[in-house]
Amino acid sequence: MLKKIRVNLGRRSYGIFLKEKILNNFISLLRSATHSKRFVILSSEPIFKIYGEMVKETLGKSGLKFHVILIPDGEKHKNSKTLLFILGKLAQFNIQRDGCLLALGGGVVGDLGGLAASLYMRGIDYLQVPTTLLAQVDASIGGKTAVDFHGIKNLIGAFYQPKMVLIDPLVLKTLSDRQFKTGLAEVIKYGVIGDERLFEKIENNLPAILKKDPEILKSIIFSSCRIKSKIVSMDEKESGKRAWLNYGHTLGHALEAHFKYKTLTHGEAVAYGMWFSSKLSFRLGFCSASVMDRQRILLKKVGLFPRLPRFDPGAVLRKMFLDKKARNGQILFILTRKIGLVTIQKNIPRQIILSALNQLQAEASES
Ligand code: GLY
Repeated sequence: MLKKIRVNLGRRSYGIFLKEKILNNFISLLRSATHSKRFVILSSEPIFKIYGEMVKETLGKSGLKFHVILIPDGEKHKNSKTLLFILGKLAQFNIQRDGCLLALGGGVVGDLGGLAASLYMRGIDYLQVPTTLLAQVDASIGGKTAVDFHGIKNLIGAFYQPKMVLIDPLVLKTLSDRQFKTGLAEVIKYGVIGDERLFEKIENNLPAILKKDPEILKSIIFSSCRIKSKIVSMDEKESGKRAWLNYGHTLGHALEAHFKYKTLTHGEAVAYGMWFSSKLSFRLGFCSASVMDRQRILLKKVGLFPRLPRFDPGAVLRKMFLDKKARNGQILFILTRKIGLVTIQKNIPRQIILSALNQLQAEASES
């Protein structure tokens, strides 16, 4: 059965549609989302090899014209060079204002596709067709588009909403376990920030989730997308509650950067970040020990805590202060009050952050 969620942003509202095999049958949804007649499928080579034919066939049998742009796989290609390559191809194909880009892939393809669509002829329509769990529950929703620049992640970007998001839980079958788990970290995050029942569902059904059972996957993806769309609908440009989505990310981003994006996946870094934030929440009296422990136990059971190489807590702390989300020299932390409820806090004394980091280092690092 088709499940739908609406992101409510006035004239820029759009639907998220979730169904098995949706890539075989999305033309009526497409027609209600865009008036475009010419499409450009943007994908990466490995993803296109698996799902390209399906999308081409669906567009082709409805008589819709399309072109294909393939970009290399991997975060290191999320840069201005690839962006210009895509824009060049759109020009070469003579795509006009009524063109529409379909981003088929993970977060890199989605971020690049969205940004290229926002720039080309001052903006053409685009659709998100995410093929990783991380992109399905996070990057494809909410219109954050960007490339990395001058060594800084997402430095050049725009808020530019897609016309539709199409999610097929079955595509996750081909995802590696580690990549699947990285997405699961974000799903757990949604439980912590806004839905205790989702958190409990993951606690109670972990073996089926790890086996990628389609029914349970559909249910947790749906709950995650619902929370994200609700938050984005309230605060599109992150002037307030959208920051909740950064739960675990303040330390997560700093750890990813500290280890040069080689040691930890995004989800593993965020899992450590959630563990850390829940520790801070407990120490500062925002939550009980059981709220902290439930998070650590679930993240550990999923397998999101690989041993960390030893690190300098002071250096990681400095990275947190460099984060572009740190404001006026203050780091914003999202802290847990209970499972399903978080709060935004700044002004946490540096000493408390450093001592929690020291504890994390002792518990998580290789000796
Ligand atoms: N990934 C966080 C956000 O979309 O705001």
